[in-house]
Formats: sequence, C-alpha cells, structure tokens
Amino acid sequence: MAKDVKELISKDEIHAKVKALAEQIKADHPNGVYCIVVLTGAMIFFVDLMKELRALGVQVGFAPMKLSSYEGTESTGKITVDLEVTKVKVEGKWVIIIEDIVDSGYTADFVRKYLLDRGAISVKLCSLLDKPERRKVEVAINYRGFVVPDKFIVGYGLDVDGMYRDLPYIGYIEE
Ligand code: IMP
Ligand code: MG
Repeated sequence: MAKDVKELISKDEIHAKVKALAEQIKADHPNGVYCIVVLTGAMIFFVDLMKELRALGVQVGFAPMKLSSYEGTESTGKITVDLEVTKVKVEGKWVIIIEDIVDSGYTADFVRKYLLDRGAISVKLCSLLDKPERRKVEVAINYRGFVVPDKFIVGYGLDVDGMYRDLPYIGYIEE
C-alpha cells in the first residue's frame, strides 16, 4: 500500500459495486447503452463496468471526452474541453455519462449540457463516487457507487497530478 494513502474502499468492494451498477443499468437499458467516458479518471471504472455489462448481454458503445478544470486538488470552476465529442456521435441517442467522481458538480453539469446541445435525447449520469459535501451546483446522479468524505480521493483511476491512478483500491491522501 502506498504509505501516504489511507484505504477507504477495497478492491473487492469496488468490484461488487461495479457489478451492482451494471445490473442497475441493464434493468433500464436491456439492449444496449451508449456511454460518454470522461477521461482520464473514469477510464478504469469504465473498462470494468463495460466488462460487467457485456457479461450481462448488454451492448456497449462509447466515446471518450477529456476535460480539465483542476489545479492540484482544487477545481478552478473553468472547464476546458481537451477532447471533443462530435455531434454525429450523440445526436438522437440516449447517453450515459461515466464519471469517476462528482465533487463540485461543475464538470458533470457542463458535460450534461454539452451533450444535450449536441442533440442527445436523454443524458444520465453514472458516477462511481460522490462527494456531496463539496457540491456547488446540483446534479442528479442516476447511478451512484459510493459516497465519500470531503478528502482528496485517489486510486482506481483517480489521481493527484498524475499519481496514484494505478492503485487497485480507493483511498485518500493523509495530511
Ligand atoms: P467537479 O467538477 O468538481 O465535480 O470534479 C470533476 C472532476 O475532478 C472529476 O471528474 C475528477 O476527475 C476530478 N476530481 C474531483 N475530486 C477529485 C478527488 O477527490 N480526487 C481525484 N479527482 C477528483
Ligand atoms: Mg473525472
């Protein structure tokens, strides 16, 4: 274990939750889903979720999108789109945003509007983690994994300045 990281959610707990989320998504979308994966943090979560969905017989299409708004551990509130999703990918579709964590909510709110602007019929949100204490804008999370405390969370795709993404568990940095 990385010595400055305190474990919050184990690898097994993550796995069980990803399976449960896949089952919930399947119940609402038995035939298939189209996911917008918010890079880079949600990448590991999405790959595991996609495997579970496919094991349940759900077809999964996806497009990546990349955004940035953080400097260190604080959101600047100003969102930059580093990788766009073209209109042709989302027009006329029911889509699910795949996020690692909803913190201030600025990113999820931005992506939802961005996809509706590009002609998505419906936009749902699936986030592995939710840090409600830090919310600045209200966002509805349709599929939610775990609620986490107001700490800077790392592991299982989440990073701080590019570090700790590869940890198999989720934890926080001890001050
Ligand atoms: P928000 O816009 O503040 O809701 O944060 C959105 C993005 O910032 C998330 O998709 C994450 O990629 C990143 N982020 C927010 N909080 C954390 C955290 O505690 N650890 C790692 N990344 C975070
Ligand atoms: Mg993210």
